[in-house]
Amino acid sequence: MLLFETISLYCLLANWNIPQANLNKIVLDMEIAVYPNPVLKTKAEPIEEIDSEICQIAEEMLDTLYDACGVGLAAPQVGLSIRLVVLDVTGEKTGERVFINPYIAEERGEILEEEGCLSFPDVMGKIIRSQYVKVIAYNLKGEKLEIEAEGLLSRAWQHEIDHLNGCLFIDKMTPASTIASKPKLKELELSYQNNKAGVS
Ligand code: CO
Repeated sequence: MLLFETISLYCLLANWNIPQANLNKIVLDMEIAVYPNPVLKTKAEPIEEIDSEICQIAEEMLDTLYDACGVGLAAPQVGLSIRLVVLDVTGEKTGERVFINPYIAEERGEILEEEGCLSFPDVMGKIIRSQYVKVIAYNLKGEKLEIEAEGLLSRAWQHEIDHLNGCLFIDKMTPASTIASKPKLKELELSYQNNKAGVS
């Protein structure tokens, strides 16, 4: 991590141009974008080149994910509209955990379960998701991955790929969960407005 921090500091001091047009800043201290931050509703752009910048962002996103005790995090949730997801449903910090330009190639079955989202503190809701998905993605070496998922992993994949498309879990909740989550969403909206206005 020290290496990445050193690189990012150097980049900042040298005012390097970021090759990818949609990246307009170097992220030093990532913060999770909370609803109703508009970045969460923005469709993310494909990553065209896996460069050191992308590797650095992926490392920082993994740190942010573990700090928040989450199972998955999509780049728009840290304010970056690029198609990058970090995922670790076991929390074991091993294996492929960084995924570039993922998409669902196959899905089948339906299952209703409760889920939450790091961008929606204290909000939970029931959502019907596909029981099985096959995801195609690339790792940081540019190798193509084919991932078959069921259970929590399948749900997490669908949730994170929705994030890349600007689709949020509140958009898919059952009517009962939508009603139940309304007061908390109102609270988050108010808190977001107050933060923007500089009210603590
Ligand atoms: Co989420």
